[in-house]
Amino acid sequence: MAQPLTTKVAILGAGKGGTALLDLLHQIPGIVIVGITDKNPSAPGLQRARDLNVPVTDEVCDLVANHGVSLILDVTGDPDMERFVLAHKSPGVEVLSGAATRLLWNLIQHQTKLQAELFHAEKLAGLGSFAAGIAHDINNPLQLILGLAEYLAEEQDPAVVREYARDIVQAVHRTSAICRDLTRYARRSLGEESARVDLSVKLDEALKIARYAVEFQDIAVVRHYAPEPIVTGNPDELLHVFVNLISNAVQAMEQGGTLTLHTGVEGRTVIAGVSDTGCGIPQDLIGRIFEPFFTTKPPGKGTGLGLYNVKSIIAKWHGKICVESRVGMGSTFRIEFPPAEPILPENES
Ligand SMILES: Nc1ncnc2c1ncn2[C@@H]1O[C@H](COP(=O)(O)OP(=O)(O)O)[C@@H](O)[C@H]1O
Ligand SMILES: [Mg+2]
Repeated sequence: MAQPLTTKVAILGAGKGGTALLDLLHQIPGIVIVGITDKNPSAPGLQRARDLNVPVTDEVCDLVANHGVSLILDVTGDPDMERFVLAHKSPGVEVLSGAATRLLWNLIQHQTKLQAELFHAEKLAGLGSFAAGIAHDINNPLQLILGLAEYLAEEQDPAVVREYARDIVQAVHRTSAICRDLTRYARRSLGEESARVDLSVKLDEALKIARYAVEFQDIAVVRHYAPEPIVTGNPDELLHVFVNLISNAVQAMEQGGTLTLHTGVEGRTVIAGVSDTGCGIPQDLIGRIFEPFFTTKPPGKGTGLGLYNVKSIIAKWHGKICVESRVGMGSTFRIEFPPAEPILPENES
């Protein structure tokens, strides 16, 4: 089999443009970022590079001339740098700078916007299937309120009236909690926002939401949670990831089964897992499940965008996702994240 071609890239400039290039390129198979440099040691891309294990150097000359670099991306916008690179690069090495890198940066911004639209569209498409679950869960407390109100109209004893009134208030709180959870889930997430997120808390929240999206019939839920599985990420996006994985798991267990939610911390890696005892994924399809629009479900049940979005969100937060599956036995989706940065006491930051 032919070896896949690898492009070795050096990035000059670790400001906004350099950081965006780093974020995008490190996700693409076949591209290796051999190093990044910036004359400002606190440029944001340098820290991001360290998180991604991309070498950081202040020796521009060394980076440009060595390491088998095949493409230099100069986003410094500095004409002196352009001349320097052309003078020192090895022959045959290609350089993108000036207007070309600006164009690349514009394309990345455009792609980021499109991706955000796609997340939202997929979420809205999924909400269609929530209707039956929501109607059921809102109807129960409504029926209770109706019954209590009918009794109240006849009831003379003030103590019983107070008790019914308390039950009615509780039932109203239950319905408003459902509405609050769902409106929070449906809103457009601001992809830029990042926070410390406890993965166990997010899995529990996602479980509540997923109960509206898919029918949990004869499904036992088991949780194995580690203390403090905390990562840096966007809370809405991570919720969306887990709702997708849990919905897929439940849809795979049409005859019932066990849904296992797992979090853990292994060294410098924070883990979340969603396992099912469902139909499993045939070996020849496993490579395709993360492709956009790949689905084995009938229209109305699947868009094929769930796992594609899951993978993009995880890559954005520098995580990895892998799947193990056996037909007829079930599947496990495992996500690995870097840990959240520790919060420094104020006088140290
Ligand atoms: N837990 C699972 N068990 C079995 N098959 C799965 C599971 N998760 C995903 N798949 C397969 O991957 C496909 C793509 O999943 P996804 O991207 O979420 O799209 P959708 O759920 O809309 O079909 C599914 O149609 C299904 O064939
Ligand atoms: Mg899905």
